[in-house]
Amino acid sequence: MALHTINPTATAAWKQLEMHFQTMKEAKMQDLFQQDATRTTQFNLQWNDFLVDFSKNIITNETLSLLLELANQVGLKEAIAEYFGGAIINQTENRAVLHTALRAPADATVMVDGINVMPEVNEVKAKIESFTNEVTSGARKGYTGKPFTDVVNIGIGGSDLGPAMVVEALAYYKNHLNVHFVSNVDGDHVQEVIKKLNPETTLFVIVSKTFTTQETLTNSETIKKWFLSEEFGTSQADIAKHFVAVSTNIEKVTAFGIDPDAVFPMWDWVGGRFSLWSAVGLSISLSVGYANFEQLLSGANAMDEHFKTTEFDTNIPVVLALLSVWYNNFFGAESEALIPYTQYLQKLAPYLQQGTMESNGKSVGRDGQKVNYQTGTIIWGEPGTNSQHAFFQLIHQGTKLIPADFIGYVSSLHGDENHHDKLMSNFFAQTEALLHGKTAEQVQAEFDKQGLSEAKANELRAFKVFEGNKPTNTILIQKLTPASLGSLIAMYEHKIFVQGVIWNIFSFDQWGVELGKQLANSILNEIESKSVNTHDSSTTFLLEYFLKNK
Ligand code: F6P
Repeated sequence: MALHTINPTATAAWKQLEMHFQTMKEAKMQDLFQQDATRTTQFNLQWNDFLVDFSKNIITNETLSLLLELANQVGLKEAIAEYFGGAIINQTENRAVLHTALRAPADATVMVDGINVMPEVNEVKAKIESFTNEVTSGARKGYTGKPFTDVVNIGIGGSDLGPAMVVEALAYYKNHLNVHFVSNVDGDHVQEVIKKLNPETTLFVIVSKTFTTQETLTNSETIKKWFLSEEFGTSQADIAKHFVAVSTNIEKVTAFGIDPDAVFPMWDWVGGRFSLWSAVGLSISLSVGYANFEQLLSGANAMDEHFKTTEFDTNIPVVLALLSVWYNNFFGAESEALIPYTQYLQKLAPYLQQGTMESNGKSVGRDGQKVNYQTGTIIWGEPGTNSQHAFFQLIHQGTKLIPADFIGYVSSLHGDENHHDKLMSNFFAQTEALLHGKTAEQVQAEFDKQGLSEAKANELRAFKVFEGNKPTNTILIQKLTPASLGSLIAMYEHKIFVQGVIWNIFSFDQWGVELGKQLANSILNEIESKSVNTHDSSTTFLLEYFLKNK
């Protein structure tokens, strides 16, 4: 079964939401809070060690009921069953979407094409575990008999962003191995990483689902060449000790010179941007140990169960997705900010940029027709408090509506209460400030206190007013652990899925990345042969300039 097709704007719920929006577009959250003392109690969800407070949104009970009705009318319930049940929901690539199987319990049954894939999944997990143990214990050694000290993950997109984000997020839990990431085809990136490495003690993990990606193959070749430099006394046979690969394309991996035993398989039904749960997460397991990697998976599985089994009104990913649709499609918001109040989640926004924008940046509906509504939110963000000193000005006083998720933790990892209390006071203060703003009267009261002249007050007042009424979700988690991180990532994955279902698009293909790749290949031929073909005049001018000055 494929996903059912329905233009969301044709549903009765959408039409009612449009009418309801007319009464809500000028609504002030400050008033909504005043009118209803139970607002926070109604608009928060508590699940495991997560508290999601969504009361600071421009919504009423009616908004939420209509959004939930929209979810029902587009067939979200059936879509979730198809997603978890292995239906071909990635229709344009003729694939099931089953990253959830990677974190299912070992004894689960997940059928793809009439075959239970769990035995294979469990086999790869066992391979990740034993390989991790061999490397971290020092039992597995490099070509001069020394244990490994460094690991380099070579990959790009989903074969880089997920592992890089999680390795950084779980830095507190890491062992002695230094894990590096090489992704960009920019030769300076790989050279900067190589210069820190000792070939005798470095393990290279080449991660590419297709094993055809230009960046990854180029970086792998450069690293292989460096590894085989005469000065190191290495030989072709040493490749087997230092290079492993994660891929679906065993043929191409072996052609690169990697032993078939050193390949960690993955499957077509795991999309690149949802693949950190597979062997693509090998560098995570190497960095924090297999037990922590398993915890990450089990946290994600707990969120899967919550998503799959909870009624929509108390279902965290569903509620977050619906709120996002409300702002995107009715208020016309174009972007959403993600502000984690922990430095460990520094790479969460770039990771979710791929997750969200590669998935839902589509303009053709599942019926093959161009959509007549907005899809695909722009995601951006940086950890607080740094972001407060960078772009918060625009969120507070700019002209754009930017709903924001604030992610914070009750306990810090290193336990420094002085820092953590300061950090979290900012976390709470910002969402409060975004809600209430500051009125002209409040500004004037401050001026009076300072004894400011009337003339100066009149000159400055307007600049110091904050309109407030800026929506935020507060996601407060007990502690950053491998399990809670797994739940957090899975929460966003399911939010992406729900939005794709509502927007009637295919979230699991990515045809939009192909054109640039094709053109780059033909331009590379022109650059290498120093002969520019026919292009638009701007591209010709730029290429000629580049060739002349290079
Ligand atoms: O950017 C396009 C893309 O196909 C992503 O979806 C994927 O994560 C990335 O390239 C890397 O692909 P691969 O793992 O096949 O090298």
